[in-house]
Amino acid sequence: MTRPRLGVCYYPEHWPEADWAAHASAIRALGIEYVRIGEFCWSRIEPRHERFDWRWLDSALESLSAAGLEIILCTPTACPPQWLVARHPDILPRDVAGNVRGFGSRRHYAFSSEVYGQHCDRIVTAMLERYADCAQVVGWQIDNEFGCHDTTVGFGSETEQRFQTWLQNRYRSIEALNDAWGTEFWSQAYSAFDTVELPGAAVTESNPAHTLALRRFASEEVRRFGERQASLIRQKTPTGVWLTHNFMGNFTDFDHYDAARDLDLASWDSYPLGFLDQGWFDEETKSRYRRTGHPDWAAFHHDLYRGVCRGRFAVMEQQPGPVNWADNNAAPLPGMVRLWSWEAIAHGAEFVSFFRWQQYPKAQEQMHSALNLPTGEAADVQTEIRQLAGELATIAPGEPATAEVALAFDYPSCWMAEIQPHAAEYSAFRQAFDYYSAARRLGLDMDIVSPDSDFSKYRLILVPAVLSVDRKLVSALEASGAQVLIGPRCGSKTAEFSIPPELPPGALQSLIPLRVVAVDSIRADNRVPIAYGNNEYYARCWLEHIDTDLEAKAATADGTGVYFAAGACHYVGAVTSPDFLRQIILELCRRAGIDMSPVAGGLRLRRRGNLVFAFNYGPDSAALPAGAGKLLLGSAPLARGEIAVWRDPRAH
Ligand code: GAL
Repeated sequence: MTRPRLGVCYYPEHWPEADWAAHASAIRALGIEYVRIGEFCWSRIEPRHERFDWRWLDSALESLSAAGLEIILCTPTACPPQWLVARHPDILPRDVAGNVRGFGSRRHYAFSSEVYGQHCDRIVTAMLERYADCAQVVGWQIDNEFGCHDTTVGFGSETEQRFQTWLQNRYRSIEALNDAWGTEFWSQAYSAFDTVELPGAAVTESNPAHTLALRRFASEEVRRFGERQASLIRQKTPTGVWLTHNFMGNFTDFDHYDAARDLDLASWDSYPLGFLDQGWFDEETKSRYRRTGHPDWAAFHHDLYRGVCRGRFAVMEQQPGPVNWADNNAAPLPGMVRLWSWEAIAHGAEFVSFFRWQQYPKAQEQMHSALNLPTGEAADVQTEIRQLAGELATIAPGEPATAEVALAFDYPSCWMAEIQPHAAEYSAFRQAFDYYSAARRLGLDMDIVSPDSDFSKYRLILVPAVLSVDRKLVSALEASGAQVLIGPRCGSKTAEFSIPPELPPGALQSLIPLRVVAVDSIRADNRVPIAYGNNEYYARCWLEHIDTDLEAKAATADGTGVYFAAGACHYVGAVTSPDFLRQIILELCRRAGIDMSPVAGGLRLRRRGNLVFAFNYGPDSAALPAGAGKLLLGSAPLARGEIAVWRDPRAH
């Protein structure tokens, strides 16, 4: 593992060329080593078809490298230029009603457009011819934030044709499709693949298997689009130059495990305050963490993206101050940009890159802060970045910790739950987050992994929301010998979106003998008390009625069993309060012999190498855990927005 580094996103095209050398020196002087550049600059490098202007980009790269900076070069395909759109209006995406989503912002292309794919090949090849051998280009980023602005699923005619071909490849015969989808229902039977339209414009709900097929197809289109660029870049760039894409937070519209198959590392864009404001959290949580972000939000994504790309991840865009895109855009508490960066590094991030160098006073993001004001004066946040760079030079964090706890996270499950939520508040993503958050309050390090992973190295496996469970997962859970905690809805669907013949939890019944015979979905403002031990917790949103001979370990007042166990397998048939999950996970850790360091309030821990990191997101200062040794960084008690680091007494 190389030393973690700092980076910044920089747009030379926004500033006079005369300023570039000074910008470059100032970036380097701050302790930053990487500069990400180029992701929206197509119209500058190709102002007219086949008329390239590389001079300015050559000059920008020269200024940056003269200052000793290394470059992450992006393909500019998130922004097709106006001349290309005018020439080929069919590349534009369409919404579900068939309306064109036009030029004037970004991401105005359909993933399925072959003409657009060819233009992307052309511009990527041209960039490679010019820059593939540039020694200062250390990595390439493909496009920018696939799927952002609701662009994963498109509805044009080319998309529809490709969807029909995809269906043919998947089902082979129209009879097989009809059977898989249950098209006997409401007389929906199809006679041929080319009669299957894109779902969404029907009078009422489309067949859910049809919609799920569209989600699977759209996900594969995203992967195919990225793979096309990845293979061009791989052919031309020297060994050691890495390939990434910047994924988003709280975003599940395509399968990221698939999309990352062709990458060397997954990067993601971390905006903790924007996400808090836009997220599902209650008002009390939103105001408690208004200027710090939720203590588990970024951590969840760091662990997710490390798992998405086989252990390698980075933060490509780190929030530097207020953003412009949430309903309310809070200013981070001083110190948080440093804290967020250390949190990423503690989770194994290879670099943290700040978005962006200088606030641009025009256009859509003029209210988005940066490391410099629109005038070019340094923003206050530079103080903490300078401090962070100094600390990084003295503290070597080593390899990411080996986690004993795994959390299985599955993208198709998120699609299934969105297609038929059945309870207004149910979200598979939120379920995964709630389990993660409960475990993190016990001071546990976790890996977030795909359900088809190797689980043999874990002692506790959390399966909060894998809706379609296959035999392979059941065997892997069984063979692991680990304690397994399964959440409601797991195993409730087949891969083709029907109820499994044995009823939910389907194939999981070979681990725990119970059947879900009904679901009580609960209104958002209601809570159903659950008694467990001497404590009372609650169910909300989702409460299963379970048929079993097992004795319930926890139940509602009217006797509805909520928590069951058989051997090492534990099943919770409700969406519950976080404290209930925390209590169960605590007990399972004891059974599994996993060390815990429970933390309270906004304090969180994470180990990397032989170091323990503590982060205080809460409103008050916090005591450090009893085992904390001599501090390498920080002081106890830990002030709000502060971090502390000490050597892990358990590490060898
Ligand atoms: C990201 C995007 C950036 C910028 C940023 C603003 O989603 O990749 O280009 O728009 O958000 O926060």
